[in-house]
Amino acid sequence: MTFFAPATAGLRGTLVAPPDKSISHRAALLAAMTSDPVQVTGYLRAEDTLSTLRAVQALGAIVEIRDEEILFRGPGLRAAAQPTGAIDVGNAGTLLRLLPGWLAGQAEGVWVLDGDESIRRRPVDRVAEPLRQMGARLDARENRFTPLTVTGSRLAGVEYDLPVASAQIKSCILFAGLLASGVTRIREPGPSRDHTERMLTQAGARVEKEGDLLTVHPQDELEVDRIDVPGDPSSVAFHAAAAMLVPDSRIVLQNVAANWTRVGFFRIAQRMGAVVVGPLEEPQAGIPASEPVAELDVCDSALGGTVVEADEVPLAIDELPLVALLGCFAEGETLVRGAAELRLKETDRIATVVDGLRGLGASIEATDDGFVVTGTGGLRGGTMAAHGDHRLAMLGAVAGLASREGVEVVGMEAAAVSYPGFTADLQRLLSPA
Ligand code: S3P
Repeated sequence: MTFFAPATAGLRGTLVAPPDKSISHRAALLAAMTSDPVQVTGYLRAEDTLSTLRAVQALGAIVEIRDEEILFRGPGLRAAAQPTGAIDVGNAGTLLRLLPGWLAGQAEGVWVLDGDESIRRRPVDRVAEPLRQMGARLDARENRFTPLTVTGSRLAGVEYDLPVASAQIKSCILFAGLLASGVTRIREPGPSRDHTERMLTQAGARVEKEGDLLTVHPQDELEVDRIDVPGDPSSVAFHAAAAMLVPDSRIVLQNVAANWTRVGFFRIAQRMGAVVVGPLEEPQAGIPASEPVAELDVCDSALGGTVVEADEVPLAIDELPLVALLGCFAEGETLVRGAAELRLKETDRIATVVDGLRGLGASIEATDDGFVVTGTGGLRGGTMAAHGDHRLAMLGAVAGLASREGVEVVGMEAAAVSYPGFTADLQRLLSPA
């Protein structure tokens, strides 16, 4: 158990954002799909992305870890190796959903993907369904859970309407589309993070976006010599929220990925009255070939409630627990709807966030597809269980700093899944040198 006492002074100082988890997963996978050496700078060294490094090694990539960068020598797009045992994705849902897209299109080979207890409860049918339509051979426990067996086969392009705006499903189909015969078209119900599209474009793949339609063409090989991973907006959102809530705070977050499909939380917070100054990317019609970075200046201020609608949800999906926390301190009601996807994360994040914050004194109710919070001017504090969910652990910590009595977080070590330095970084901002 780790106790987070109420902050006695504001957060102050600068914080270089730790590397982005989503972009790191993709960088390792794309580098493995490339046969020439690829240098990746700023790769995230956290449990989730170390699982991806081990996975690509098992699939034939030579991974040379240096101080500031990692050098990958991949087997190439069509030559994934066949390891003897199962590939362990650990706790990484992104790895579990993206990897089958690459493996399903290999000319031969059989791969088994498995993971931890949380992964074993998370559905893979969402990627199995479109891949099967492309001709893939997949077997899952009860047709929807790991272990997932992927048998390489010849794929054909499809037209697929995504049932939900999910970057994981979209990315999986994009990878498979590189290996398919013919063109693959994906229709999105709304925008979701577009790192895969940007990185594939950088690697010379033909990916086009017109309105809600994405098209990917078959590819002989990928070519990219260097991928730079910017800092993670989802990780520093926790420090930002702490600075928004603890009086007399001002922090500067540096090297933050400002991709418009990732900064929904900062826009929602601004709407609630938070002071966040910095260049967030404006929505883009096409596919930019790079990731913008920004410096964000955040300080405390009075907040008011807001309504987060379905179209905003994918742009802030991993930060919605923080919207609930801000809602506890905001005047009036904060409502999030159209976010049923939260139930399929590392935990059922509608249930765990509502139970967790209510245990600290919040006035919050779950709905089928979100939650409603009534601001009561603050939080009492108490004990909050992380349930093995990294974002819940970090939520508890921030709630503790902003609460009247502090919060005991049970299972704080879960933060290491995405952000091993989380507590140290928070401490540094609380007691600047
Ligand atoms: C991710 C996409 C999101 C997000 C997850 C990472 C990604 O999931 O919640 O933490 O890297 O593609 P969905 O695309 O399934 O919503």
